[in-house]
Amino acid sequence: MNKEEARKKIDELTDLLSEHNYKYYVLDHPEITDYEYDTMLKELINLEEKFQELMREDSPTQRVGGEALESFTQVAHSVPMLSLSNSYNKEDLIDFDRSIRKIIGEKIEYVVEPKIDGLSVNLKYENGRFVQGATRGNGVVGEDITKNLRTVKTIPLKLKEEIDIEVRGEVYIPKEKFAKLNQRQAEKGETIFANPRNAAAGSLRQLDPKIAAKRNLDIFVFNIQRMENMNIDKHTEGFEYLKSLGFKTSNYEVCESIEEVIKQCEKWSEKRSSLSFEIDGLVIKVNDLSQREKLGTRSKSPRWAIAYKFPAEQQKTQVKDIVVQVGRTGALTPTAELEPVRVAGSVISRATLHNEDYIKEKDIRIGDTVIIEKAGDVIPAVVRVLLDERTGEEEIFKMPTICPICKEETFRLEGEAVTRCMNAACPAQLRRGLIHFVSRDAMNIDGLGESIVTLLLENNLIQDAADLYDLKKEELLPLERMGEKLAQNLIAAIEKSKKNDLERVIFGLGIKLVGARAAKLLSDEFKSLDGLMQASEEQITAVPEIGHKMAESVVAFFKEDRNVEIVEKLRAAGVNMESLHINDEEDENREKKFEGLTFVLTGTLEKYKRSEAKKMIENLGGRVSGSVSKKTSYVLAGAEAGSKLDKANQLGVAVISEDEFERML
Ligand code: IVH
Repeated sequence: MNKEEARKKIDELTDLLSEHNYKYYVLDHPEITDYEYDTMLKELINLEEKFQELMREDSPTQRVGGEALESFTQVAHSVPMLSLSNSYNKEDLIDFDRSIRKIIGEKIEYVVEPKIDGLSVNLKYENGRFVQGATRGNGVVGEDITKNLRTVKTIPLKLKEEIDIEVRGEVYIPKEKFAKLNQRQAEKGETIFANPRNAAAGSLRQLDPKIAAKRNLDIFVFNIQRMENMNIDKHTEGFEYLKSLGFKTSNYEVCESIEEVIKQCEKWSEKRSSLSFEIDGLVIKVNDLSQREKLGTRSKSPRWAIAYKFPAEQQKTQVKDIVVQVGRTGALTPTAELEPVRVAGSVISRATLHNEDYIKEKDIRIGDTVIIEKAGDVIPAVVRVLLDERTGEEEIFKMPTICPICKEETFRLEGEAVTRCMNAACPAQLRRGLIHFVSRDAMNIDGLGESIVTLLLENNLIQDAADLYDLKKEELLPLERMGEKLAQNLIAAIEKSKKNDLERVIFGLGIKLVGARAAKLLSDEFKSLDGLMQASEEQITAVPEIGHKMAESVVAFFKEDRNVEIVEKLRAAGVNMESLHINDEEDENREKKFEGLTFVLTGTLEKYKRSEAKKMIENLGGRVSGSVSKKTSYVLAGAEAGSKLDKANQLGVAVISEDEFERML
């Protein structure tokens, strides 16, 4: 075959395969068999190998291409990616309609769409070619995740018209694929995702597109962000146009009045569980684009649209047992083992009961029938006990006075809600501590997860984190399911971690209350582990965002001989103990990322005093309020959170833990 013939054939196959890909994935209507598709694909692969220069960028063979990235680059959005204000009931929707009619004064047509629970992305096309995909980020600047988005089969690499356009959509994982993904993750001993949204977000934030490619991601496109000479008057026309270009778009309903919208909300709420994808509500939008223009936008969200959030879903189930887990810091956490039930998209078989007081307050007993609740991505909680269903056989839970793992005595210190095992050599603490040490945000030792750490401990190959650095390939080989290649990779990954920045080491040590963000701040301030070890409580508290409790915990950590011993062993093994950041501008130019957000603090916070948390929020432009309302953006809940937490759940306000708060910081 000469070059000209090859070009023709490659073009023909690329177009044909793209079209069949579209019919299969977007239209869900295949016209050829998998065998026929694969045969064509093989032919294309062969030709592309022989005539590499003729391969087209939008070739179906190029969905997964190239090497893993070192990091994501930032991209500024040409049109801000706005967010939505929320509504939770009929009254809110009627208010929304009233505020719109006050400005427009004429008949309004609404479009109701499912609110897909995934990750918002912007897709940019030039001449009909997919050139860039980005996350929403803070709405103004996001991250370039083009490589990962190319692996999403329902994202067309080439449109049916050669135009310049930017569109917005939601990437998600279908419910069934999500369940399979978690099953695979569990088998490999890797992260179990709490919900499809986290799984989608986690997959798109992988630096290696090969991982994203395996995650069965999908997309619904719902908006034209930018397009030259846009000749469209209505949102619904936009939808039809997007469809004609080859995008997979969401379903929508047109409503003539807010009463019809409310009916749609009831209808979707009923069919929600039968959908193949997760939705956390609906989005209601004014259809007419000139009316939208009149309405305009607020700083973060348009006036012409609102999200309707479904109420937290509740289910009845039974507490089969209450088991106690020992965490990395020795905290004993009681967990309810439940008769598995499906709530808000996931099968729930456990719910944390936090601590002894929480169980007492709610009077939760083993054998009780309870109502559990889950709202969006918030961890499931036991709401109340159905006292009428008690048989008298229920058993009152007692916090163990000896550690279930090492059998040493447990303590509950005055003023603390948690009961702890204080034995630093407790195997449960050791195991959790090691899992933490190797985890992604800490030393990031690739391939070393919960299962291998357990194997290493069971085979007495390690006693502490520093022992990892003495491991030899020959010692690993006899382990279960360990091959030559895996062993070699593990040793290489361990070796690589020696060069990690100081903040990872500090975080990895697992000092009580010190999260990843605090570790970075400490590393930036003290520059070396020695510097931190010598710092006084006052010096540590002087670091912005670091509170007294955390400073106390750092000093106490380095007072323990055993901890100093491990640090010295790590140093001797060649682990880097110095900050690699010479001058970090990031902190100086930190944006006011909480601007426009209102927080309510409730319960006992472990890591900061209330006043400290308040100061941190305010420093970043946020507001702290004393009571929960629909306007509250987040409720930061510590242990023993009471009525404010209930109110937040009732209103569907996002509830975050201290860990989540740290991540936001
Ligand atoms: S419209 C300016 N439509 O919900 C309009 N958003 O809470 C902005 N979302 O970050 C969004 N499905 O990612 C819109 N059909 C839909 C949606 C949708 C899911 C997400 C979106 C946004 C979040 C807002």
